[in-house]
Amino acid sequence: MTISQPVSSTTFSELKAKIEQKRARVAVIGLGYLALLYTEQKFPVTGFDIDAHKVSTLQSGGSYIFRIPPTEIQSARARGFSATSDYSQLGNVDAIIICVPTPLNEYRDPDLSYITGTAKAIAPHLRAGHLVILESTTYPGTTEEVLLPILEKENKKGLTASRGDASDQRQFYVAFSPEREDPGNQTVARRDIPKVVGGLDAKTTELAAALYGSIFNRIVRVSSPAAAEMTKLLENIYRCVNIALVNELKLLSLRMGIDIWEVIEAAATKPFGFQPFYPGPGLGGHCIPVDPFYLSWKAREWDFRTRFIELAGEINTRMPYHVLDFVSKALNQQKKALHGAKILVLGLAYKKDIDDLRESPSLTIIELLQKEGAQVSYNDPYFPRVGKGRKYDLQMKCAPLEKLGQYDCVLIVTDHSDYDYERIVHESQLVVDTRNATRGITSAKILRC
Ligand SMILES: NC(=O)c1ccc[n+]([C@@H]2O[C@H](COP(=O)([O-])OP(=O)(O)OC[C@H]3O[C@@H](n4cnc5c(N)ncnc54)[C@H](O)[C@@H]3O)[C@@H](O)[C@H]2O)c1
Repeated sequence: MTISQPVSSTTFSELKAKIEQKRARVAVIGLGYLALLYTEQKFPVTGFDIDAHKVSTLQSGGSYIFRIPPTEIQSARARGFSATSDYSQLGNVDAIIICVPTPLNEYRDPDLSYITGTAKAIAPHLRAGHLVILESTTYPGTTEEVLLPILEKENKKGLTASRGDASDQRQFYVAFSPEREDPGNQTVARRDIPKVVGGLDAKTTELAAALYGSIFNRIVRVSSPAAAEMTKLLENIYRCVNIALVNELKLLSLRMGIDIWEVIEAAATKPFGFQPFYPGPGLGGHCIPVDPFYLSWKAREWDFRTRFIELAGEINTRMPYHVLDFVSKALNQQKKALHGAKILVLGLAYKKDIDDLRESPSLTIIELLQKEGAQVSYNDPYFPRVGKGRKYDLQMKCAPLEKLGQYDCVLIVTDHSDYDYERIVHESQLVVDTRNATRGITSAKILRC
């Protein structure tokens, strides 16, 4: 739907009523799943993205996310969803949800340019009664110290954010609510994932909770945007640190001849006080390898060192190098050198059954193997080819999963469910398994690393 009716200033009670009656018009900036979620709830949704290709794909009923079939986009379109790059349409919506990327720059410091760019693009179209919610993962303080000042300074109408004052004249509302998306996870329905919200004041939290309350079954209110920002970081740091812990214990277990996977499975039978985390070839995805360092960076401002985060980062970053050393030793045992060895890497995605390459350890491992002179091929059903990304330039085509005997080593980096591991082991000379994908298969050809 292209919005044509301009919306004039809205008061708190008008906006709340609009939200409750699902008449509120929602803009999602940075197009992912969220835009579709709102459309499912019959809110009129407009998606904004600076990527013209994404906009035209969605407008023509196509999808660029493997897990979202084009039919889902087409039914969203039929329910009124539209996509645009034209920010002037923002003046006509009631709620603006920002889901733009928050990566690290080359010095591993936060790159907030997407948030500041978006804030500057929103500001000229801001009007009284707008509810602006940031969802991008970031350090505590971003909403109030980065987003808010731009919105307040750069809007031309002298609007300010609601901060608990009685009047809601010339005011807009600002909140933070973290995204909790687990790509590929089929076990929890999205609406069953509780949604944390923290507004600048109680009125804002109420509005944000009302908006999300029609989409999520449970809303968790926290006292401030900073508390909501920190909640998301705690969740990701918890994963990052625990993964580092099992990665380190895996390295020790390998030396001691103990199967860490067996140990984790046994420990996981404890009905309280233990949650299993699994070792792997290195961290991937755009969250766990990145987000904790947003907090480390912010902590420096407070003369504070986040040692757990740094240690976990150090251990997790070393894992692809461990895989490299392990493959080299495995080949050495067969009187072969890594230089010139033919190696098939199974899996490019950062985790199984998804088409997401971001920060994938496979990319690092392929580059490390190539640097040592190995002849590397890859297979991944989700990637027919791989070109250039921000941190890699591979220019490779997916090798067919056949004639596996030609490779000196088949290296399992991503344990996609579609692989027939029995067949892979049977046909290969040597299998190095970084994920315990070959569990239950007994063969002298398998080395778990
Ligand atoms: N995807 C997830 O599973 C997930 C989970 C939790 C948190 N997050 C957080 O959500 C945020 C976004 O993540 P993502 O995975 O959707 O990133 P992404 O890179 O896949 O997508 C972001 C989109 O924003 C667009 N964009 C960038 N700048 C823009 C601008 N100024 N105006 C409009 N569009 C713009 C990009 O073109 C892109 O389409 C990040 O902070 C991330 O940490 C994502």
